[in-house]
Amino acid sequence: MKRIFVPKNFNIHFMKLVHIASVITFLIIYLIKTSLLLLGKNEQFAGFTKIFRIPEMIISVLFLVTGIWLMTQIPVINTLLIVKIIVVLASIPIAIIGFKKSNKALASLAMIMIIAAYGLAEVSHKKMLEPVKELSNKNDGKEIFTNYCSKCHGQNGEAMLNGSANFSMSTIDDQAIVRMIKEGSTMGNMPAFGSQLSDEQIQAVGHYIKTFRK
Ligand code: HEC
Repeated sequence: MKRIFVPKNFNIHFMKLVHIASVITFLIIYLIKTSLLLLGKNEQFAGFTKIFRIPEMIISVLFLVTGIWLMTQIPVINTLLIVKIIVVLASIPIAIIGFKKSNKALASLAMIMIIAAYGLAEVSHKKMLEPVKELSNKNDGKEIFTNYCSKCHGQNGEAMLNGSANFSMSTIDDQAIVRMIKEGSTMGNMPAFGSQLSDEQIQAVGHYIKTFRK
């Protein structure tokens, strides 16, 4: 019998997708409302707000519920995520008051806060993929580890910063190691290095981290 392929952590992937889609839709609605407000098109603003009242409510509930659910799935919540959550939550009453009172400054502020919160998370995620400094020997496992991995795993592989695994107690096999480095973890903070490191480099660093095992 043929089995339907269901990826591991399907729920998390699905919720992430719904979360991102609802955040984007939410932002588009915000952007349109704020632009109309800033341009002084009060009639269109009122019309748009009226038509989109219910969809906007559904989307914001979706965006908050998926966000909260995703949060419960994360083993460790880092500072940046806390900042993101506070900024997003704080922007909501500001936006409500801003739109209600047609206050341009408050409406703009709320939008900037949401964009900044998501932008910040994205930038910091990208930064985690970059090496500390350029490699002198690009296939040296130890050098790859020092420059790409030690900021979370620590120089000795035991630091467990940002909720990372302790390599001295790791028991996963070679295949799982390669997969983890390539694809990252769905909900932990382990980034996917598949586009950053070559297969050869992944093999080398995967081999190197096994030397931390006791
Ligand atoms: C941004 C922080 C961060 C960076 C940078 C990082 N990791 Fe990780 N790593 C994690 C986290 C967090 C986990 C735990 C993930 C989980 O269990 O969901 C992890 C888990 C792992 C695991 C699985 C270990 C086990 O026993 O489960 C391997 C292997 C691994 N990392 C290798 C690497 C390598 C190699 C690099 C560098 C190329 C690297 N990591 C860079 C955060 C990081």
